[in-house]
Amino acid sequence: MAETLLVTQGSKEEKYRELLPQLAALLAGETDLTARLANASAALKATFDWLWVGFYLVREERGGEVLVLGPFQGPIACFRIGHGRGVCGAAWARNETLLVPDVEAFPGHIACSSLSRSEIVVPLRDAAGRVIGVLDVDSVKLGDFDEVDQAWLEKIAALVVEDGR
Ligand code: SME
Repeated sequence: MAETLLVTQGSKEEKYRELLPQLAALLAGETDLTARLANASAALKATFDWLWVGFYLVREERGGEVLVLGPFQGPIACFRIGHGRGVCGAAWARNETLLVPDVEAFPGHIACSSLSRSEIVVPLRDAAGRVIGVLDVDSVKLGDFDEVDQAWLEKIAALVVEDGR
């Protein structure tokens, strides 16, 4: 297992392009989902200047299903998010990536950190296409995420669940 990542100081597109194969190599052979998500969040945080990056996982509870905080890097975050709640719960309910350039303009946004200004949330899907969790990234900059992030983070979301379901 590689112990360090070698990622350029270039554009974010270049960073993603260099990170993806290293992440695939890092995760190869590890089947435990928690372990995979933990190192994936560390690798993303080490590569990009983001406030918070991590995962919420769909869990069964008495009242139904809920997103529960999983491995992440960054400030302390909310433990649980209901279906359809906030950006994470909305991405889960809609089963689609949500790009939020200004979190204050998103109705129902859950402010885990008052420093967060923009956000992207990407569903993690099982082999049948059902949402099993989300990858959530927060930035202190307004409009920090675009279609480039969406395309690469969707690849990363698919990679992290591949052998770790
Ligand atoms: N802002 C998210 C909640 C999770 S934290 O940002 C880590 C939301 O609205 O779903």
